[in-house]
Formats: sequence, C-alpha cells, structure tokens
Amino acid sequence: MSATVTDTSVQAARPAPASGRAIEPVPDKSVDAVITDPPYFDFVHYSELSDFFYAWLAPVLRGEYEYFTPPDSSHTSEVQDRHPAKFASKLARVFGECRRVLKDDGILSFSFHHSRAEGWVSIYEAVTAAGFEVVAAHPIYGEMKGASPKSSTKEPITLDAVLVCKKSAGVHARAENLAEEIRLKTESICRELQASGFSLSQADTYVVAMSNALAVGSRAGLTPTEMPDLLSKFTLPR
Ligand SMILES: C[S@@+](CC[C@H](N)C(=O)[O-])C[C@H]1O[C@@H](n2cnc3c(N)ncnc32)[C@H](O)[C@@H]1O
Repeated sequence: MSATVTDTSVQAARPAPASGRAIEPVPDKSVDAVITDPPYFDFVHYSELSDFFYAWLAPVLRGEYEYFTPPDSSHTSEVQDRHPAKFASKLARVFGECRRVLKDDGILSFSFHHSRAEGWVSIYEAVTAAGFEVVAAHPIYGEMKGASPKSSTKEPITLDAVLVCKKSAGVHARAENLAEEIRLKTESICRELQASGFSLSQADTYVVAMSNALAVGSRAGLTPTEMPDLLSKFTLPR
C-alpha cells in the first residue's frame, strides 16, 4: 500500500514508498491528497501470497539482504487480520498517519469492496477513528471479469468503490430514513451504470449500496456501533 503524495510546490506527483504507519519524511499538513489501495479485510492474504515467492528467494538472497532474514514474508506492521475490530484498529493507524500529512482541506481517497457488512463496518470504524468522514462514494470497474477466482464465484464483484474522505468537521445533520436515501441513491447509480452497458451482479449492487451507506452514515454522524443496524437493511442473497 503506497501513498501518492502531491507536492504542490513543484507541481509534481512524488511516489513515497513507505509503511502506511509512518509516511516519513512527509511533514504534517503538507499534502493535498492521499490516494491509496489498502488491504481488503479478510479477502486476500497478501503475505501468504508473497510467501510462495519468498520461499524460493529467501534461501538465495538471505546472505545479501537483511529483508530475507525472517522465516516468512509476514510483518508486524502489516494491515491484515481476520478479526474485524483488530483489522479496523490497524487500518486506523495507517489512516491516522494519512490525516497527519494531509492539509485540513485535503482528501484521502481509497478503493474497497467486500461482500459482507462486517467488512464495511470495519472500514467505517477505521475512517472515523482516524478522524475522517466519508464524503463521497464512486463505483468504478474493478478487475477483469475473467479473473480466475471470480469465474468460480456465483456472484462475482466487478465494481470497486472509491471512497473519498475528508477530515471530520464534527458537524452533522441527523436525517430521517437513511435506508431509503441509500436505496434511492443505489438504484439511481445502478440504472446509470446499466445504461452505460455494465452488467451488474447482485454483489455489485451490494457494493454500491454499502459504499453509499458509509457516505450517508458519515453525513448523519452515525457512530460505528450504529452502522451494523443500517447496513443490515441491505442484504446480499447467498
Ligand atoms: C489491495 S493491495 C494493493 C495492491 C496494489 N494496488 C497493486 O496493484 O499491486 C494492499 C497492499 O497493502 C500492503 N500493506 C499491508 N499493510 C501495509 C502497511 N502497513 N504499509 C504499507 N503497505 C501495507 C499489502 O501487502 C498489499 O500489498
């Protein structure tokens, strides 16, 4: 997960490969946007995937590179945990670092999708714990339909939600009937996507609903503990 940092003084994008927990040496409140692609909760086990290559490379390169000293490629700072609350707290530390480097009107934008409500709640938890709110959710075409794990899935997800967050101003308008607002928004976005030729699975519709629920919930100032109730109004048939 690398953060792309825009340095306005030189009007250029400066890639900053770093652990998401410390984007050093970027100073406080100095960047306009952090755009990232964080781990997908319990979807993909990145270090386990890397271990396949690590097992072949480490015996040869261990003597030359300190990186290959550990027995496998897992790392203590890795954002990966099957437990939703632990995942949320690890990701919140990364988002907290993003907040530190962002200007007060800067944006944090990242992609996400998940087929279970608890994945979305943990993202909401991470965003709010780091002092952000979700201000917009945009569906985009995510991965190739033919990808092998997807062709074997009954309801493949082909959409990613790009979530746009801003530092929370702490001002919220408690609204009535949030579920209905989410439903109408979801229907309208899905209609638009279908009119442009997208064929949407039920899981795709679910991604649109969940991502918009985070934006609506944020605007209404819902706490993470209030989210499961709202999200449970939208189900994905199994
Ligand atoms: C969804 S993947 C991003 C994939 C990337 N966009 C690409 O196309 O290759 C999330 C990545 O975040 C990495 N990651 C996990 N914890 C991290 C941390 N604390 N700092 C930086 N990257 C981390 C994972 O190893 C994984 O490669």
